[in-house]
Amino acid sequence: MGDGHQKPNSWIKYMIEILEERLEAKFDEFQLVKKQRDSLKLYLGLVRNRDEETWEHSVRVGLKGAEVAEFTHIIEPKGLFYSGLLHDVGKVLVNPNSLKKKKDFSPEDMEELKQHVMFGYKLIRGIHDFSARVLLFHHYFQEKGYPSEIPCPEIDLSKGTDALILYCGRLLSIVDFYDAASNRKNDKFFPGVSEIPDKERIKQSMLKFNPDQSYLIRELYKAGIF
Ligand SMILES: [Fe+2]
Ligand SMILES: [Fe+2]
Repeated sequence: MGDGHQKPNSWIKYMIEILEERLEAKFDEFQLVKKQRDSLKLYLGLVRNRDEETWEHSVRVGLKGAEVAEFTHIIEPKGLFYSGLLHDVGKVLVNPNSLKKKKDFSPEDMEELKQHVMFGYKLIRGIHDFSARVLLFHHYFQEKGYPSEIPCPEIDLSKGTDALILYCGRLLSIVDFYDAASNRKNDKFFPGVSEIPDKERIKQSMLKFNPDQSYLIRELYKAGIF
C-alpha cells in the first residue's frame, strides 16, 4: 500500500505550532512553577532533538492524558499530564536506527526499543518520581508486556500511592495506544495496513487489545475524548 494520505509540509508545520501552543497553555493552566516547566521542557527537548515524531507523540499523550484523568476523577490531571509528556523519554537512549524504523521491525529492533522503559525510568527517577514509577507500566499491560520485572521503589510509597501509580500506568497505556494507533503509519497495530486507519477501526482495536478497560474506552468515545 502506498503513501496515499501523505500530509503536506505546511499542514504538518501548522499542527506542530498548535501542539506547541497547547503545551504552553497547559503549563499556564496548571500554573507550573519555572523549575518544573524548565525540567519538563529539558526532557522534551532531548526527545525532540532525537526524533520529532516522538516529541509530537509525547506532547499529545500528555495533553490527552490530562483530559482522560479529568474525566475519570480518580487522579489529578497533572499526574497523567507529566507522565504522558515523559513516558517515552528513554527513547533518547535507544539505537536511533531502530527508533526511526517505520516497517520491517526485526526481533532485535523490538528488543532494542523495549529498553526505553527502563532507560526512561533511570533518566527521571529522583527528579520526577511519580512519573518515573508510572511510566514503568505503560507497556506492562499489553500482550507480551514489558518490562518483565518492575524495580522496587527507591522511596517509601504507601499502598494507596502504589495502587494509584498502577492505575495511572494503565490509563497511560491506553492513551499511548490510542495515540500511536491514531497517528503512526506503521503496521504494528494493524498488520498489513501501512496507512492510518479510520476512527471505528481504531476503536475496535482498542477494545480488542484492552478488554479489561472496555467500559472506560466506550465512555471516553462517548464523551468525545477519543
Ligand atoms: Fe513507550
Ligand atoms: Fe508512547
